[in-house]
Amino acid sequence: MRVLVTGGSGRLGRSVVAVLAARGHDVTSVDTAEHPWPEGITPAVCDLLDSEARTELFARAAPESVVHLAGIAVPFARPDAETLRVNTTLAWEVLTAAVRAGAHSAVAASSPTVYGYNTPSWKPRYLPLDEDHPVAPWHAYGLSKAVVEETVRALARTADSCVLSAVRPGYVVSPEEWRGATTQQGHTIAERLDDPALAAGSLFNYVDAHDAAELFALIVENPERVPGGSVYNAVAPDPLSHGPVDADLARLHPATAELAPALADGRAVFSSARAHRDLGWKPKRTWRDHVDPGERPDHSERGDHTEGI
Ligand SMILES: NC(=O)c1ccc[n+]([C@@H]2O[C@H](COP(=O)([O-])OP(=O)(O)OC[C@H]3O[C@@H](n4cnc5c(N)ncnc54)[C@H](O)[C@@H]3O)[C@@H](O)[C@H]2O)c1
Repeated sequence: MRVLVTGGSGRLGRSVVAVLAARGHDVTSVDTAEHPWPEGITPAVCDLLDSEARTELFARAAPESVVHLAGIAVPFARPDAETLRVNTTLAWEVLTAAVRAGAHSAVAASSPTVYGYNTPSWKPRYLPLDEDHPVAPWHAYGLSKAVVEETVRALARTADSCVLSAVRPGYVVSPEEWRGATTQQGHTIAERLDDPALAAGSLFNYVDAHDAAELFALIVENPERVPGGSVYNAVAPDPLSHGPVDADLARLHPATAELAPALADGRAVFSSARAHRDLGWKPKRTWRDHVDPGERPDHSERGDHTEGI
């Protein structure tokens, strides 16, 4: 299938492009940043906010499926208004271009930040968090992703021949980050794992980039199994933690204290059961494949946490 991947040079995009190509698809990877792709993958350097360049790209690539990942990917990385404008404009323009080009499916990257954690008063209605749980974004990045999901639903109401959906990948860990490179939050996975105050910023979620890429591939390959307008969580089934996160969650997000015991069996704060139900997606890679579980350092005096993904 001819698949156009936007943001293909990025942390997640590189795995999505590689996985789709390995599964035999004819992939065009579009990004403002170049990447040294091997033969067989068509690179396109293009600013997708440029309407002329975008129109020319879609005409040339004639995609049967579009995976939209391009955007500002980290909260507070850029001024709020820019994050909101870029992410929402890109989603609207890319997804409508996909529908106009006659693509059978178009899937956009959202984010677990739509749930709105990391405010002192954030209190989930239940745990684990599934896609039926209400969203409550509070920063521009989370709001931009809530708008991306709403854009998907809006277009799905009239796009009869194109199945639109969104995926909320957890804290994506790329192959080089498993090997020790710093993640988007400026620390390594081992440091995040060893300090619950860091991992709590994303409610201990993570997903291996290759595993997340496989969910995008399943959506591309099985549009008939995706109800139009669907949103899928895509997180590892275990938390990024040396053990169950119930106590750390209650300590670092006190408003969750009543609900946190539901996670005492070692499950993640987020559920990806819908992706498993609709598409059979099952993440295969855990942090334990890469990081020595070792001894758990004592950070019980620390109460701070970062603004997570
Ligand atoms: N990395 C994570 O943990 C994570 C978690 C949840 C959601 N997401 C979402 O997944 C997507 C990919 O994330 P990532 O971590 O790979 O980010 P990334 O920053 O590594 O990649 C994004 C890519 O988009 C490209 N891009 C930005 N603006 C563009 C434009 N106007 N035209 C063309 N290309 C443009 C960038 O050059 C970059 O290569 C993003 O939408 C992000 O919000 C990421």
